[in-house]
Amino acid sequence: MPKKTSSAEQRRGQAAEWAQEEAWNVAPLRRLAKELAEMAVDELTRRRGPVRAPDFQLRTRRLLGRKFHASEIGAIVEEVRAASLHLCHPRYMAQQVAAPLPAAALVESVVAAMNQSLAVWRMSPAGTLLDRELAGRFKQWFGYPAGAEGSFVPGGSFANLTALLAARAALAPQAWRRGQARLAVLCGEQAHYSLRRAAGILGLGTQSVFSIALDRERRTDPAAVPAALRAARRAGYRRFILAGTSGSTPTSSFDDLEALAALARAAGAWFHVDAAHGGGMILSPQYRRLLRGIAQADSITFDPHKMMFMPLSAGYVLVRDGNALRRAFEQDAPYLFSALPREVPDLGRFTIACSQRFESLKVWIALRAYGEAYFGQLTERVCAVAAAAHAYCLASENLEPAHRPAANIFCFRLRRRPRDPAASNRLHLALEEAVNGSGEGYLSSTELEGERVLRMVIMNPRSRPEDAIANLRLVERLAEKERKRKARRL
Ligand SMILES: Cc1ncc(COP(=O)(O)O)c(C=O)c1O
Repeated sequence: MPKKTSSAEQRRGQAAEWAQEEAWNVAPLRRLAKELAEMAVDELTRRRGPVRAPDFQLRTRRLLGRKFHASEIGAIVEEVRAASLHLCHPRYMAQQVAAPLPAAALVESVVAAMNQSLAVWRMSPAGTLLDRELAGRFKQWFGYPAGAEGSFVPGGSFANLTALLAARAALAPQAWRRGQARLAVLCGEQAHYSLRRAAGILGLGTQSVFSIALDRERRTDPAAVPAALRAARRAGYRRFILAGTSGSTPTSSFDDLEALAALARAAGAWFHVDAAHGGGMILSPQYRRLLRGIAQADSITFDPHKMMFMPLSAGYVLVRDGNALRRAFEQDAPYLFSALPREVPDLGRFTIACSQRFESLKVWIALRAYGEAYFGQLTERVCAVAAAAHAYCLASENLEPAHRPAANIFCFRLRRRPRDPAASNRLHLALEEAVNGSGEGYLSSTELEGERVLRMVIMNPRSRPEDAIANLRLVERLAEKERKRKARRL
């Protein structure tokens, strides 16, 4: 016999229904949409206020304890925003995450609303076509043939992993079934950690990674490749992946891709180029020479969410022989992928994801709206700011450049620093903390040859040379304050 529902249960059911209906209620949604869009524009065009609110921890803790109603969503998001780091502030110069191109960021809410999954063309008919068009453009930019294949991925780390998977499919096809491959990965000392991580994930083992020494400009030294190959051979490896970097993480150095391609060819190696950072510079007439030789790569990592100033996430992987990418993912899924041969493929056949976000829309829209040349100009702007910071340090009595920036990442240090390396490292770390805690600027730091240096990454086309110089002066002021504090203590 069906159970009789009590009036209390009925009331609870009605309340739940009402709550559901409320979530789709058009009038409050329109109000919320306006509120959120305005907020996004304020954030995207931010110039004033602290880069990071000094009391961000307190603000966040207060938020964590809050209970709120749907009508307060706008106000709560505003509070989250106030407690957050403001990447769009022109004085934010810390990591390789861009101040997004506003129109591309604003498109994102509609991408989420449409929620197309691009792994299967039936689930995203327009999206798949649009994505294909974009793939064609990317191939052209990097001098790839029509038979190349590519896919959006969540970022450069996933792109490197996918590229190594494609390399494994080409060099050790039996590994897909048997799960064993002996491949050595050779890369420069400044290669991104995700390559080593990918070797671990793929079961190649992190000890299959052999580092190649750098030249004086902190590029992978082609003259040091034979030594790395010899070391790999001595360890028993016979098949190799050689990876170059276009825009290294610590110093934005660009490897000589032509020289590395020739060495890879001679060794029968798969040649991968990690252009996660510098790939976008292909659109700059001034800087594209730095990527000369990239067309010879077997695979390329390229992040539109870095030097194309797209909001996270928009990573991309390209493989010259499209079949190598397909072979890297040989699963069959009859409930998803269509068996019919067709011009428009199911993109899930050559990417890890089964739910593939429609990342291509923001990139496609922005490229169509502003044109490729505009993106080239944006990269030139951020590089010009790094060059101005370098010039300032050359002339400064207090700061010295650690290198000449090839692009938009620049490291520097105090001229008068403690002789003891550990004390110098501590001082530079303390300065980084002091800058970031001040709310006036934001920097990062890294180690070069074991020495901690301050690092400036300009990822906002609205940052001006004056902003970089203001950050450098802030470092000088804080260093002086620290020196005086120490002197008083002695
Ligand atoms: C050269 C290089 N490769 C790969 C990556 C990883 O990219 P993502 O952060 O998008 O995973 C980075 C990130 O900074 C990078 O600089």
